[in-house]
Amino acid sequence: MEAKDAIRKRKCVKKYLNKPVSTKLLFDILDCSRWAQTALGAQSWEFVIIKDPKNKNLLASAAEQEWIASAPALVVVCSNLERIEFTLKREPTEFSIMEISAAVQNMQIASRSLGLGTCAAFLFDRQMVAKIIKTPKKVMPLSIVALGYPKEFPENERAPLSEFLHEEEFGRAPEEEVPKKYNKKWQRNALIHILS
Ligand SMILES: Cc1cc2nc3c(=O)[nH]c(=O)nc-3n(C[C@H](O)[C@H](O)[C@H](O)COP(=O)(O)O)c2cc1C
Repeated sequence: MEAKDAIRKRKCVKKYLNKPVSTKLLFDILDCSRWAQTALGAQSWEFVIIKDPKNKNLLASAAEQEWIASAPALVVVCSNLERIEFTLKREPTEFSIMEISAAVQNMQIASRSLGLGTCAAFLFDRQMVAKIIKTPKKVMPLSIVALGYPKEFPENERAPLSEFLHEEEFGRAPEEEVPKKYNKKWQRNALIHILS
């Protein structure tokens, strides 16, 4: 699958087939993840693979999101603050979030290209998760990524491209017309299924 197809066809998936994800496949996906853009080479990411149902349940509780326990595999993506501080010599939080978001996005696109569905949860009790996966003090869990073979890949939707485009200054539409295929009709409430 071409990169641009994997990007466009990625969709948050929370319903999985009862089929395990091999560690070999996870390694391939996490290898793609670590090639994300990185602030001055900090590479702050740490990946904790979770397959034990007991740990999945604990993580689902820490997020108050039951669906998390049903995923065949989870990866808790953490930021190693020491690496950020050492490389950037500044407050780590913003850079951590940017690096980890990029790594998670790579993970999701790589997974999609390999036929796996993913959903990345960022809303959870970070301290509880840190305790469950036993991170050192300077390692902050930022995302729990669920992965599995999907029951289906639902169609995804986005607002038309023209809603987001400006040229030279904010509010001025580009001179060239946006091709119709990027401007499909869309209803704003179509996306809201968070936590369900
Ligand atoms: C910052 C951020 C936080 C998110 N946190 C959660 C979460 O805690 N639980 C969840 O189910 N989905 C979470 N998501 C995933 C969104 O729910 C999902 O991407 C959204 O429903 C749009 O669907 P799509 O990704 O298929 O386009 C999060 C997404 C982002 C960008």
